[in-house]
Amino acid sequence: EVLDADGLVALPGFVDLHTHLREPGREDTETIATGSAAAALGGYTAVFAMANTDPVADNAVIVEHIWRRGREVGLVDVHPVGAVTVGLKGEKLAELGTMARSQADVRVFSDDGHCVADPLVMRRALEYTKALDGVIAQHAEEPRLTVDAQAHEGERAARLGLAGWPAAAEESIVARDCLLAKQTGARLHVCHVSTAGTVDVLRWAKERGTKVSAEVTPHHLLLTDERLATYDPVNKVNPPLRTESDVQVLREALAEGVVDCVATDHAPHAPQDKDCEWSAARPGMLGLQTALSIVVETLVRPGLLDWRGVARVMSEKPAEIAGLPDQGRPLAVGEPATLTLVDPDARWTVRGTELASIAGNTPFEGMELPAVVRTTMLRGRVTAADGKVQR
Ligand code: DOR
Ligand code: ZN
Ligand code: ZN
Repeated sequence: EVLDADGLVALPGFVDLHTHLREPGREDTETIATGSAAAALGGYTAVFAMANTDPVADNAVIVEHIWRRGREVGLVDVHPVGAVTVGLKGEKLAELGTMARSQADVRVFSDDGHCVADPLVMRRALEYTKALDGVIAQHAEEPRLTVDAQAHEGERAARLGLAGWPAAAEESIVARDCLLAKQTGARLHVCHVSTAGTVDVLRWAKERGTKVSAEVTPHHLLLTDERLATYDPVNKVNPPLRTESDVQVLREALAEGVVDCVATDHAPHAPQDKDCEWSAARPGMLGLQTALSIVVETLVRPGLLDWRGVARVMSEKPAEIAGLPDQGRPLAVGEPATLTLVDPDARWTVRGTELASIAGNTPFEGMELPAVVRTTMLRGRVTAADGKVQR
């Protein structure tokens, strides 16, 4: 097959360390099939499926089920993330070793949405994952500081009478876990960094040799708590949208490498969980099909990142963090291609109803964005071309 790539940018296929695929349990909002389609259309060739499914992905049976279903769909490599603790909550460690030795070969473990509050549990989990040559992707929320929290703590939240989510809820637990990672020699990955203070903590931890990596979401690179003014629950997300100065610091930290990569935290939700009162709405936003365009808008266009840098934050770094040897790097001679072709000059308008996800909760609705994914290829097979999935 000959691909016409005239005027297009070739990048290694994107790797998303943080995707909520909702299967099993909430197939009314997303399935492994529809989420894989969204991923392929967004230029992704590998996604890490977060563990907060129902039932929770805290054992070998569930992670093998998710892995197998991903293979059957075949549009993107679906890597299940294992829950750190049984049921995601509580203090009993899940069987990390059994999940690692399963067919799913789980190496990334997470507490997403239910931060491991107990430092002893986190310390033991770090010791286990070190032995398994894995990594803990931590949700970065000190739950004792976010009881009932509904929005970034500040003037806007106060005026709307919403309980605040302080920056310190993120920064304090990231600092704690950086200390524990340093002392155990284990690897820690910090999910969805949202504040300037967390960037300071990461810089400090990295300077003293902590094996810590971090991701930032597209929405935290573009949107601010100004969005609260509309009171539209599409803007509700954990961690919350922060301030303009946080956004600026996050962009610079990603360009500099203190924050390693972009991850979507793609979080589909049903209409009834978004078309309601703010306080009743579930947190989360779609991200897979808009991620590249937001990176181009917030980093490439302002001159903070070139295309080489896009490859680094979208592919190389996440593949390295997750330990994927066959993704995120230039192709060897004769190797079946895993790549994404992007039209850097084209623009498109986001419509939630036209996205491949079952849910439509995109905060970028109606925005005209730069850069269009033309072709995604996984090991020599085209998975998406010109906006259509190739099954
Ligand atoms: O906004 C979020 N949504 N943050 C999380 O940590 C979990 C996620 C979800 O599962 O909906
Ligand atoms: Zn999270
Ligand atoms: Zn998440």
